[in-house]
Amino acid sequence: MLNTKGHQLEQSLKIKNLLDEAVKEAQAIGEQIDGIRAPDEKLASTAKTVMDDIGAVRGRPLFFPFVGTGVGRGAYVELIDGSVKLDLINGIGIHVLGHSHPRVMSASLRGALSDIVMQGNLEPNREYHLISKKLVDLASRNSRLKYVWLSTCGTMANENALKACRQKKTPARMVIAMNAAFAGRSTMMAEITDNPNFKVGLPEYNEVLRVPWFDKTDPNSSAKSLSVFKEHVAKHGQNIACFTFEPMQGEGGYNVAPREFFLPILEFCREHKIPVWADEVQTFTRTGNFFAFETLGIGDFIDVCTIAKTAQNGATFYTEEFNPKPGLISGTFSGSTVSLAAGLEILNILDKENYMGPGGKIAMIHKEFVSMLEDLNSTTCKGLLQDAGGLGLMVAVTPMDGTKDKVDRLMHTLYKNGLICFGCGKGPYKLRFLLPAILTSADINVAKGIIEKSIKEIS
Ligand SMILES: Cc1ncc(COP(=O)(O)O)c(C=O)c1O
Repeated sequence: MLNTKGHQLEQSLKIKNLLDEAVKEAQAIGEQIDGIRAPDEKLASTAKTVMDDIGAVRGRPLFFPFVGTGVGRGAYVELIDGSVKLDLINGIGIHVLGHSHPRVMSASLRGALSDIVMQGNLEPNREYHLISKKLVDLASRNSRLKYVWLSTCGTMANENALKACRQKKTPARMVIAMNAAFAGRSTMMAEITDNPNFKVGLPEYNEVLRVPWFDKTDPNSSAKSLSVFKEHVAKHGQNIACFTFEPMQGEGGYNVAPREFFLPILEFCREHKIPVWADEVQTFTRTGNFFAFETLGIGDFIDVCTIAKTAQNGATFYTEEFNPKPGLISGTFSGSTVSLAAGLEILNILDKENYMGPGGKIAMIHKEFVSMLEDLNSTTCKGLLQDAGGLGLMVAVTPMDGTKDKVDRLMHTLYKNGLICFGCGKGPYKLRFLLPAILTSADINVAKGIIEKSIKEIS
């Protein structure tokens, strides 16, 4: 593109300086954020009006009284009531490099200077090419995945994955999924999701078969799940379109299973030519590798894989054999130029700056955060923070008796005291943290103080 005006835009020193200046100024403003702050009484009534108005226009109040001002710093975020909170949920896992990261901001500004806001599959710009290439490079390192198709969210990436599997196995319609699965909010993804609260009033389509998730208390857990799997195959045979699973369950309760649990099922799928689709919408970039299938060493079994969240965009990967015929998957939007540019920058930072692997920053944050929860559980919050664990930047803990009521109360008390996290699971209910990869030891210490104070307040 050397002789193009696009190259001129990219190389313009004047634009570079202006962008650098804008980021510098935004950073200087953000640097005034120096830790947790209580709401400002003078802002309370305007903030409440905005929040009530959001509730009024969308027909449902906000879960937390959260509306951001657009300024944050690392793990901290400022809200319109003047408060500053430690954000350990990050929009349910989007802001993997925290708030107001200078390089993410800079890449976003670059994206905003493009001639178009939204990119599509018919007329893509450069960002579409660059992020697709990066994603294929990452996915193909430890799997047979070869192609990627962009979409705007995890649910749509999943719909594309399912269509690719069904087309490959046409006319098969049944899907084998795990107990406690979560797959998104479309009609079919709600059907794959194993939580009745997320599909109240929807009809049953009877296209999903269930297999039990790993039970760490049962030494025969893997054999039992395989046996149920085989029963489904014996009954439905060629009518099975695919097996889908989250390598670590997200909404279902931050449930971790070892490689040995998955292997027999995956080998059975290979033997019987049942397509394997890994839903990595929540696990992508979080488990200490880009893909949890790498963490588990099962990449070779994966035919189709989906991601979203930290990529700032949805994407479906597939192998050579699962490349769908033209016409099956497309759509107007493939992502905003800002999302594609920022997503690429995030992936490059995570790839090049020692975040991944056993000695990487993600593994260190996991260790320190889980140790902090365990320390509280054995000292000042004795027995009130059980089973801290998870993988990488996905950490959960069962507080008190694990009932919904107690977990909800604790979550809102933590929020009031300055820490944002969320729930997952349904018996036991857990507190879940989607930690940013820039979390520091000092931030973890702040979290410790707030968790301790909040537990004491409600128990
Ligand atoms: C495992 C999994 N699949 C799919 C989705 C749906 O993604 P989205 O909300 O981007 O549509 C989610 C969202 O939380 C998820 O965790």
